Amino acid sequence: MTRTIGSVIAGRPAASAGTPYSSVNPSRTREVVAEVTMADAATYVEACRAAKTAQPAWADVPAPVRGRAIAHIGRVVEENAEALARIVTEEIGKPYAEALGEVREIVDTCDCFLGEGRRLYGQTVPSEMPDKQLFTFRRPVGTIGVVTAGNFPVAVPSWYIVPALLAGNTVVWKPAEYAAAAAQAFFDLIVRGGGLPDGVLNVVHADGDATFTGLEQSLAEGLVDKVGFTGSSAVGARIGELTGRHLQAPCLELGGKNPMVVCADADLDLAVEGALFAGFGTGGQRCTSLGTVIVDARVHDDFLARFAEATVRAPVGDPTEDVLFGPMLDQKFADRYDVYLRRIGPHHKVLGSAGVGRIGPENPRDGFVGDPEAGLFYHPVIVDGVRPDDELFLQETFGPIVGVTSFADLDEAITLANAPGYGLSSSIYTNDPRSVFRFCRGISAGMVSVNNSTSGAEAHLPFGGNGKSGNGSRQSGIWVLDQMTRWQAVNWDYSGRLQKAQMDVTELTPDLGFRI
Ligand code: UN1
Repeated sequence: MTRTIGSVIAGRPAASAGTPYSSVNPSRTREVVAEVTMADAATYVEACRAAKTAQPAWADVPAPVRGRAIAHIGRVVEENAEALARIVTEEIGKPYAEALGEVREIVDTCDCFLGEGRRLYGQTVPSEMPDKQLFTFRRPVGTIGVVTAGNFPVAVPSWYIVPALLAGNTVVWKPAEYAAAAAQAFFDLIVRGGGLPDGVLNVVHADGDATFTGLEQSLAEGLVDKVGFTGSSAVGARIGELTGRHLQAPCLELGGKNPMVVCADADLDLAVEGALFAGFGTGGQRCTSLGTVIVDARVHDDFLARFAEATVRAPVGDPTEDVLFGPMLDQKFADRYDVYLRRIGPHHKVLGSAGVGRIGPENPRDGFVGDPEAGLFYHPVIVDGVRPDDELFLQETFGPIVGVTSFADLDEAITLANAPGYGLSSSIYTNDPRSVFRFCRGISAGMVSVNNSTSGAEAHLPFGGNGKSGNGSRQSGIWVLDQMTRWQAVNWDYSGRLQKAQMDVTELTPDLGFRI
């Protein structure tokens, strides 16, 4: 069934402007999931204006009432979990079990924030003067422009939208074009489930250029107070520049080249299981996906043999079946992945499948589940012998490809792990607490897993990266509230006279020369 989808501004469908876009099922590329009416930059600005207009009244809704709206959104998403997960599988090819997990992540996020409406704590602080009281309040930032990728087409948007709404902000959401149907379904669930007034959440379907221009104009007009962006480091840098010109700090969640260090004392089978899921789950298309395994030279051959065998045996194919991974998210990702594959050089050893590249009759994969020709299916690839000067080692490669290299001591492993300059997720397999804490201290990543996959972070811990992975902002849990609110410091002097801070302060007389 092909859906027809378009932007919604202040509760009303927006007029069509750009060229229509067809969102295609990547496991059956003949099927169009949605015909999307695209918006232009002016429509984006109109959405920001609507959000700006709606914001003061939304901030006036008591925070506990907004918290109830979040509770209801969580419940209605839960009631629709299977239907929403099916759309995710259909539109981006995420295996159904994982798609259900993704929907669960929205419910977890709502569960985390529903009570925050009754907390959203400020502080009472003692003053240095009598008859004076100090307070802090969290104030909403205003209008938030959220721009998200399509690999987590509903969970990652919820990380922005749920706390933004809870804190009294209004939102303009620009989802990925190739995940428009999942976005529209989630948008409807939020607006209807939450009973949101018109203009509190607006959705704009637009391409990158229209969005950027629209954002530029909206910032210039003072219609956007914060940008939340999940996507590539290159686009993140452009958004950082743009918002910086308006003295704003965006919330950026960017790429990763996430390392997994496997020590000689590790449980190798556990490490292989972790590497398989981290490297190839979601077709390696998570920002937390495994980039390079950095394995102790003494266990390198043993680890590699086991990892290669597990990869060869893993079921790949139709995402409605029980598979490790399905297709590439979209043609754009398949094309870019073909470019990454060209970086495999003569000094590399390739393992993990019968071939490299697109799976098909000429390039088959044993045990493929379904019809490989129907969709954008690729072989999983392990590239052993990656070197610190290889592009494959240095740059994010969105897709089912994992590099392997070895180290002589933990300091070298940490240097290798930090070398690409990203800093989102990381992992270490060891049973030695000294190695664990040395790694945690030395690695530049925002997240560290010990004896666990680089991907699969829980929804209530701070999520975010350093270096090329972000600007230090953190999403999720209570930490994201610092993105969605600003502190206001209030002092109230009820002495009836002007008491000057630092000057009219009484001091007790100490005897600093006293000794016992
Ligand atoms: C992403 O790929 O942008 O930790 C987010 C994980 C998921 C979220 C990934 N919970 O892998």
